[in-house]
Formats: sequence, C-alpha cells, structure tokens
Amino acid sequence: MAANLFIADNLTKDELYQTLLPQLKALTFDESNIVANLANIAAALKHSLGFFWVGFYRVKDGELILGPFQGPVACTRIAYGKGVCGTAWKEKRALVVPDVNKFPGHIACSGESQSEIVVPIIKNEEVILVLDVDSEQFQGFDKIDEKYLNELADYISTELL
Ligand code: SME
Repeated sequence: MAANLFIADNLTKDELYQTLLPQLKALTFDESNIVANLANIAAALKHSLGFFWVGFYRVKDGELILGPFQGPVACTRIAYGKGVCGTAWKEKRALVVPDVNKFPGHIACSGESQSEIVVPIIKNEEVILVLDVDSEQFQGFDKIDEKYLNELADYISTELL
C-alpha cells in the first residue's frame, strides 16, 4: 500500500489523533513484522504530533530494551521499576508526567525532555512493550494523549502482537 499519511492543517489535537489512528491501522494491519510496524508508528506519531521523542521499549529477559524510535539517541536498557518506563511496566498503567524533574528516579536520556507519557502494551496480562513519548515543553501531555495512546496500545496488543 502507499505509505503516505494525510493530515489536514489546523486540526485540534483531538482531531489529529482521530485522523491519524485509522491511518496507522491501515498502514500496519496487513504487515506481519512487528519491528516494521512499530517503526512506522513511531515515525507517524513524531511527525504528525510534533513530539520531541517517540519510541518503544520491549521487555526482554527482565529488562526494557530500546526498540524502534524517532528522535535523539536514547538509553538502551531500563530496569524493572526504574524511571518512568520501568514504573509504568511495574504498575501496568499509563503514566503522565507533567514535569520529569519532579518524578523520583526519572531517567534523563536527553536534558531537553521536560514532560513524558508512558503507556504499557499488555497482552495476556503481561507487559510486552512500553510506548514512551517525550516533550520539550512542561505539561506536554494531557487526557487526550492518554486516551488515544491507550487506544493505540490496545490496537497494537490485539492486532499486531
Ligand atoms: N525518561 C525515561 C527514559 C527513556 S527516554 O525518555 C527516551 C524514563 O524515565 O524511563
């Protein structure tokens, strides 16, 4: 299929997600390679929503290992319960962090990141991946991001894993 996204100008964030998510599904549902799909999802989110960093960490042998991402180079391994990513893994829930400097144990891969959202991707009650998105702005994420990124995580879990 054609690998283009169509995103109109001047959309609200809610409208942006509503336009983007069906296109992400169309782009990925008939591709069986998970790395290819996660790479395209990271690129689409970064370029459509203007995030600083978007990527996936995959649970392997008891730690998180860096997977497909878009943005500056990042930490490669994160331990269970450490940082925002390891905490979202441990608590099996999305975490929205308005100011990363105030999150105890936050792992600063880049000094430019000021806020963050991490959404675990869970299959059969086990966290398989986490989706991590960083912003250069404080309070870069809200309930709208949480809603649609959770929807995306459900799609990845049910259709792509
Ligand atoms: N800040 C994350 C580490 C990953 S980077 O942001 C890409 C954390 O505290 O887990």
